[in-house]
Amino acid sequence: MTEAFVTELEDELRAIVGPAHVLVDGDLRAPYETDWTRRFTGSARCVVRPGTTGEVAAVVRACAAAGVPIVVQGGNTGLVGAGVPAGGEVLVSLTRLNRVEPVDAVEAQVTVDAGVTLERLQTHARAAGLDFGVDLAARSSATVGGMIATNAGGIRVLRHGSMRAQVAGLEAVLADGTVLTRLTGLAKDNTGYDMTQLLAGSEGTLAIVTRARLRLVPLLPARAVALVAVADTDAALDLLAAAREQLATLSAAEIFYPDGLELVRSYAKLPAPFGEPAGAYVVLECAGRTDPTDAVLEMLATSDAVIDATVASDRAGLDRLWSYREAHTEAISAAGVPTKLDVCVPLGELSALVTELPGTVAAVTPTARLIVFGHLNEGNLHLNVLDTGEHAEEVTDAVLRLVAAHRGSISSEHGVGRAKAPWLQLSRTAEEIAAMRRIKTALDPAGLLNPGVLLPA
Ligand code: MLT
Ligand code: ZN
Repeated sequence: MTEAFVTELEDELRAIVGPAHVLVDGDLRAPYETDWTRRFTGSARCVVRPGTTGEVAAVVRACAAAGVPIVVQGGNTGLVGAGVPAGGEVLVSLTRLNRVEPVDAVEAQVTVDAGVTLERLQTHARAAGLDFGVDLAARSSATVGGMIATNAGGIRVLRHGSMRAQVAGLEAVLADGTVLTRLTGLAKDNTGYDMTQLLAGSEGTLAIVTRARLRLVPLLPARAVALVAVADTDAALDLLAAAREQLATLSAAEIFYPDGLELVRSYAKLPAPFGEPAGAYVVLECAGRTDPTDAVLEMLATSDAVIDATVASDRAGLDRLWSYREAHTEAISAAGVPTKLDVCVPLGELSALVTELPGTVAAVTPTARLIVFGHLNEGNLHLNVLDTGEHAEEVTDAVLRLVAAHRGSISSEHGVGRAKAPWLQLSRTAEEIAAMRRIKTALDPAGLLNPGVLLPA
């Protein structure tokens, strides 16, 4: 590619989005080029910040004509390297797409731009007496578009399902600049291929999501959270079974372990939650229209799995108990650059997996530190390995093979990205991967959108 051609594309992009929104300077590009964990980094040719769907489409057309690949970025909170450049792409940042339409209270739906943060969406929905069904710790930065692209999960999947279940329609730009618009949000609509659901979880490889029609859920203002000390993973699963049976308002069930608790306590300056340490800790949350505290206390009193428990229902208490779980990600990142694995196994395999993990990691590198936490109800564990040094790939390989041997998935909610693409065949058959490639080729024949993400090279 000649220098003149390079300049020509940048000039064209400036004409589309305005000169202030094409970042070529290294210092200006830098915040977009490294992911939140600092593990994935690459150099973009430039960063482009379109402000409308029309501008996104024009940017895509210009890049397609120049044969220059695109990497798409929302709030840059992804954990598998899918939103940062591998090298030489035009990075399209969607954070200027930030409009919210009024809540449609009759349908319990709202249409918002892809760059709207989860926190802003929640505030907007709650002001209208409704709520959004997905919640996660990165809510202040994670954007709707990125959450759809990765089919984000989070802490309320137990009650409302993952992001896919909240999306009633989409607007998206295809690799040739075509704009697909399907934002009516009809409850019943059997008129052919469901493009919305195809694009949810496609990690920016098939199209760029620019707007979404989202389902909203009832606002349940009365909450109770229990932090429960239990002996081990098996006891945590016994407690979960009792909670699911007895608590109709159960909205979250999370797990963490003593080494994670210690890290969080020293990072967030939190007191020990109990007088005696335990083998595992479970966070249960109930949400309803009336205070669920009594039902939670009753369930805890009848469960043999409970060693100790603390329950809160006021705002400060809820935040305090949740912080033992939610501060894990930040506390781990403050301790180093983790190798992050996000796996899911059938609940019947969870205890065996937790038991076998330390040995599997130590066999690769004995000095690594493994911190495990996650979403108990879905058998979804976040495995964070610190101090892997040059062994990150080997640790990943050993752990993901162990997960596959337990009939699990190599990515439960973070997506495949660049980080897990080489291991996709552990979770999907050769026939499935070949079919996915055919879909990719049909929608993006030149391979312009997020090359190297999801499908192995
Ligand atoms: C979480 O559940 O807290 C997120 O998936 C973030 C993480 O895995 O670090
Ligand atoms: Zn998670």
